[in-house]
Amino acid sequence: MTPTLIRGRTLSFNRAPESIDDSAAYAYESDGALLVEDGVIRACGPYATVKAAAPEGVEEIDHRPHLIVPGFIDTHLHFPQMQVMASYAANLLEWLNTYTFPEECRFVETAHAERIAVRFFDEMVRHGTTTATAYCSVHKASADAFFAESLRRGTCMVAGKVMMDRNAPQGLLDTPQMSYDETRAVIADWHGKGRNHVAITPRFAITSTPEQMEVAKSLVREFPDLHVQTHLSENRDEIAFTCELYPEAKDYTDVYARHGLLGRKSLFGHCIHLSEREADAMSETGSVAVFCPTSNLFLGSGLFPLRALTRRDKPVRVSVASDIGGGTSYSMLKTLDEAYKILQLQGERLNPFDSFYMMTRGNAEALSLVDRIGTLEPGTDADLTVLDMAATPAMALRAEVVNSLADELFLLQTMGDDRSIVEAYVAGKPAKSVLAIA
Ligand code: GUN
Ligand code: ZN
Repeated sequence: MTPTLIRGRTLSFNRAPESIDDSAAYAYESDGALLVEDGVIRACGPYATVKAAAPEGVEEIDHRPHLIVPGFIDTHLHFPQMQVMASYAANLLEWLNTYTFPEECRFVETAHAERIAVRFFDEMVRHGTTTATAYCSVHKASADAFFAESLRRGTCMVAGKVMMDRNAPQGLLDTPQMSYDETRAVIADWHGKGRNHVAITPRFAITSTPEQMEVAKSLVREFPDLHVQTHLSENRDEIAFTCELYPEAKDYTDVYARHGLLGRKSLFGHCIHLSEREADAMSETGSVAVFCPTSNLFLGSGLFPLRALTRRDKPVRVSVASDIGGGTSYSMLKTLDEAYKILQLQGERLNPFDSFYMMTRGNAEALSLVDRIGTLEPGTDADLTVLDMAATPAMALRAEVVNSLADELFLLQTMGDDRSIVEAYVAGKPAKSVLAIA
């Protein structure tokens, strides 16, 4: 592939910012550029420097005055729940039983799974999200549809066939043996194909028997490099039911610990109501607590204690996610807008550099994929999102009085959505502007 020079203002983090004034945490170029070739960032820096080192006659794409950041990363969502979003329910368990489980039953139809997969990837790039960690449905064909579409688009995705063998409609149940065989088949068919990563995905303790949890444990032992994803401590009734189902466990986290599911590649959705003991267990194993702000507000699940988890003697690793379809927006900008408000309600702050760190490098670190995504570092994959802080008339008016990078980021996060995404590049190729319905 011939190289391309992509010009604009650029922003990339080299670590978590310690405060709003911590300018050493990131690199910002007011006239920057990236040299991209074969899907990889070859150089990044001031335009003049990158241009001088680029081949003669290199093709240039000029995004000035817009801001180029690493493609957004969403660390927890459910691709079969696109048509569950905006379902009216009092709480998690009612929402799952009334809307979510019946909707996921439709993914037994391969044609349906394939249609929704196309729409899912369209929404991701429309919103500037280039990597997601996704739950498919229980049906292997849903994982096949998801990964096949990812392969076509060239995206870096983490996803898994859901394992669930109780407390759900018949059409959504596998068995311990089926979940083992089918997860193995998904790994054989898709892991490492293109940029696809397969995750071992027991839905949550309520929908897996202890026998199925043992199967998940065996899979983790067999494939220790794979991600693991499940749900933990989202809702008080869910916690109480889990403790009834697993009376021998000390608490909800211990259910997963006993089945060998904690670890650095393990992502636990929600983690709102963890005890100190549970947070210690998460910390000691390097497990990741996934903050899903719009979902937690929508389902009334609670306020994620971000600072209490990260600023303790034994800090817990955290990431941030949309949790579609409990979540109410595909946009990571909107997701961080709601995260900000959740912290406000707890008397805490989330500064705009924190937010942009979290949706890029922070989430890449949580996925142990920072060597490939989440920054603009040379040698990493050229997944990029181009942002316009004046994308709507109201934003343009507000942008007139923006006079710092922090102001710009905060405006984008607070008022932005898919309309602020000028372009998303997947492995160096424009992906948003080529959508059929842009
Ligand atoms: N817990 C188990 N399954 C789900 C799900 O689909 N969404 C949410 N928010 N929580 C869950
Ligand atoms: Zn979820």
